Amino acid sequence: MPDYNPEDVELNEHAAWDQVWTGELYEDAIAFITSLSGQTEIALELGEITSDSRVLDVGCGPGLLSESLAKHAASVEGIDFSETMIEQARRLRSGAMFRVANAEKLPFSDDDFDVAVCCYTSHHFARPETVYTELLRVLKPGGHVVVLHPIQAENAAFGAIFQTLGDVFPPEKMETFPDLGGPLFEVETPEPYIEMLRNCGFTNVACEKRLKHCSLPNDDALVRATVQIGKVEDHSGELRDAIVRATHASSAKYKQADGSYLFPDNILVAKGLKPLDPA
Ligand SMILES: C[S@@+](CC[C@H](N)C(=O)[O-])C[C@H]1O[C@@H](n2cnc3c(N)ncnc32)[C@H](O)[C@@H]1O
Repeated sequence: MPDYNPEDVELNEHAAWDQVWTGELYEDAIAFITSLSGQTEIALELGEITSDSRVLDVGCGPGLLSESLAKHAASVEGIDFSETMIEQARRLRSGAMFRVANAEKLPFSDDDFDVAVCCYTSHHFARPETVYTELLRVLKPGGHVVVLHPIQAENAAFGAIFQTLGDVFPPEKMETFPDLGGPLFEVETPEPYIEMLRNCGFTNVACEKRLKHCSLPNDDALVRATVQIGKVEDHSGELRDAIVRATHASSAKYKQADGSYLFPDNILVAKGLKPLDPA
């Protein structure tokens, strides 16, 4: 893993999710990729979630996954260290509980959860081993940790948005976007997750690459994402027209015969169990 200064990562991440990609903007511009494109089914499968499960959604953002998991579980707690994310989750989501908390130090007792899910979040942790050791603590013996990790270079919807941003904005503007990511940010293969989860004390660890898709009826969501991320004020002017044209171009190869879009998203899925007997 590359060398990151954890204090810098934590400061950048906290500021970005609280002040730039705030709950409302994130939900409008990004969540259709990170939590509404098949993540629920994968988390249910890997975590073996049933109507008896008590589930922790770690770095829950605006709580979309928490809400959909809550329909299948006994209870769901979503935590995030961004206040704007938790404020948005509490305002709009039902079925789950939400708290502001750092995943490195959770406000839960030992052996509390059956399943802990990190969905598109792990690559933002400043100290991943600290987080996964903490998740081991709050899981019951035999409880499941589940990770859905986006491979940055293999997420076509994000790729199309960033290509559009690069096409319509000058390089100086691109440099103003927050620099995000922790030690796992560029991970593209299973091995680092397998090693880390084992080091943290998990057993039955497995990780594999899995292809899923983000399916959209048209490319409007990508236009909206680019307008939001680029903070375009004039929603009917020339710049917006340029964004629409550039989005059509950057998305063209994912367009289906019926006019809908299918963006491939290659992710790593990892899982492990808390041992039944303490080592
Ligand atoms: C890309 S968003 C993912 C949100 C949500 N899981 C989803 O799939 O849409 C990453 C989230 O992780 C949160 N996060 C990053 N590091 C964290 C930490 N140490 N403790 C709690 N939340 C953290 C951020 O505030 C942000 O909301």
